[in-house]
Amino acid sequence: MAAATLAAVAVLTLVACGGKAKASSSSTPRTPEFVYNSTCSTCHGVDCRGSSGPDLTGPDLTRATIDTQVRQGKGRMPAFEGRLSDAAIALAVDRVVELRQKAGMQTP
Ligand code: HEC
Repeated sequence: MAAATLAAVAVLTLVACGGKAKASSSSTPRTPEFVYNSTCSTCHGVDCRGSSGPDLTGPDLTRATIDTQVRQGKGRMPAFEGRLSDAAIALAVDRVVELRQKAGMQTP
């Protein structure tokens, strides 16, 4: 429990450092853009073209691989399973798909 709480605080701190949203109600998903901007943009940029994390408009991503990456994390990317609700994860994935589309990439 304490570890989970600490982890949640770490995520919220990250979010706060991103300068967006206080995330006091992170369990209440709003829009794809809101979830993405408050959770992912710090590392991937608001346009998902990358910052400290990689550009997300590469050719090999599918909805399934994005979803898995968000749930399980990898390397320096934290796992969001249990920190974000399933609904919020789905919204974050939607936003990545939307941004990829704007960049001309299909996401099967
Ligand atoms: C703390 C910084 C950080 C945050 C926050 C973060 N990521 Fe990542 N992300 C990374 C890093 C670093 C990698 C590269 C991981 C590796 O392969 O070692 C990555 C990789 C990815 C990949 C795989 C890219 C590829 O081409 O294989 C996807 C998809 C992804 N992130 C989506 C997201 C989404 C969606 C969110 C928000 C829910 C998010 N990330 C939040 C740092 C972050």
